Amino acid sequence: MKILVTGGAGFIGSNFIRYWLNKYPNDNIINLDALTYAGNLENLRDLENNKNYKFVKGNICDKDLTNDLVKEADAIINFAAETHVDRSILDAENFIKTNVLGTYNLLEAAKNNGSKRFHHISTDEVFGHLGINDPIFNESTPYAPRSPYSASKAASDHLVRAYYHTYGLPATISNCSNNYGPYMFPEKVIPLFITNLMEGKKVPVYGDGMNVRDWLYVEDHCEAIDIILKKGKIGETYCIGGNSEKPNIEITKKIIELMGKDESSIEYVKDRPGHDRRYAIDFSKIKNELGWEPKVFFEEGLKKTIEWYKNNQTWWKNIKSGDYQKYYEKQYGK
Ligand code: NAD
Ligand code: TYD
Repeated sequence: MKILVTGGAGFIGSNFIRYWLNKYPNDNIINLDALTYAGNLENLRDLENNKNYKFVKGNICDKDLTNDLVKEADAIINFAAETHVDRSILDAENFIKTNVLGTYNLLEAAKNNGSKRFHHISTDEVFGHLGINDPIFNESTPYAPRSPYSASKAASDHLVRAYYHTYGLPATISNCSNNYGPYMFPEKVIPLFITNLMEGKKVPVYGDGMNVRDWLYVEDHCEAIDIILKKGKIGETYCIGGNSEKPNIEITKKIIELMGKDESSIEYVKDRPGHDRRYAIDFSKIKNELGWEPKVFFEEGLKKTIEWYKNNQTWWKNIKSGDYQKYYEKQYGK
């Protein structure tokens, strides 16, 4: 099988490519990535010489390029996106371009080439947010996004579904909860806090710290995508959760404890505008129909993640200092 992965130089995409080539070493992967600030070829350095892996620098909005790559692929998995809520609040333009127009462009390429399989990676944030006693999200929860990021992901999901219903594109969608693990860009809360503590800095907790997220270890997510690609029903959506709902302050205190620091490192800061209170996923559909459930308990996954950031300090220090971007601009141009 030849898979076109978009956004494979980012956090989840790079974990997925490594997972896939370990498990299916005879398959071919083409990684199309624009190398935005979040894309980093260091994430895949160990696969650079693998003859079944090829990197193409390019934008999912580029019609000719996507058409050529889609034509060759047996399956397309769309990870490429602008992903950080805080950045979307500051400036939503690239979110609309990549998440909405980029997905539209890929769908067109898939439709025009009679693609056999299209899987779209989405987020639980499209469902809006929950109060503490609300029933948790599932595949029938109405869409109610509240940030420019989640609104752009919601638009992309609607387009994928429209291409299935209108043109019969063999598509599936997965909406997952917050991932964590190795290679996560240190602007997201878990790697930001781990690396800040290693640098002797404080950790900025937004608002009252009682916002809740459902944490999914990235390898569990990769396994879920694998199962959906192999056994998922065309036209269906699958919710993927981590079975680990936690308020931010609990996670903050756990990270502080595991890193041998104390709570004087916590700094409560101004809340994020429109900060979603709680996300939580009911993953019983994928469990009952496809036999997937998360395997990694939160504390175990968090320990592994902290260990990884301790052992890969050059990786995140280059990102935090902006060095790797200068390097890649020199290598590949802007
Ligand atoms: P990331 O920000 O780490 O990586 C995104 C990648 O996409 C980067 O390599 C970037 O260079 C690339 N990219 C961005 N715009 C592009 C464009 N126009 N053309 C080609 N490549 C482009 O993101 P991630 O955390 O790995 O997320 C991957 C997917 O999973 C996204 O679709 C995101 O919405 C979804 N998701 C992520 C989480 C999470 O917790 N990280 C949770 C739910 C869903
Ligand atoms: P984040 O990692 O940005 O993911 P998302 O907003 O997509 O869920 O944030 C996770 C939670 O952590 C969210 O409730 C916001 C909070 N947060 C902080 O308290 N401090 C921070 O510095 C960041 C980046 C996030």
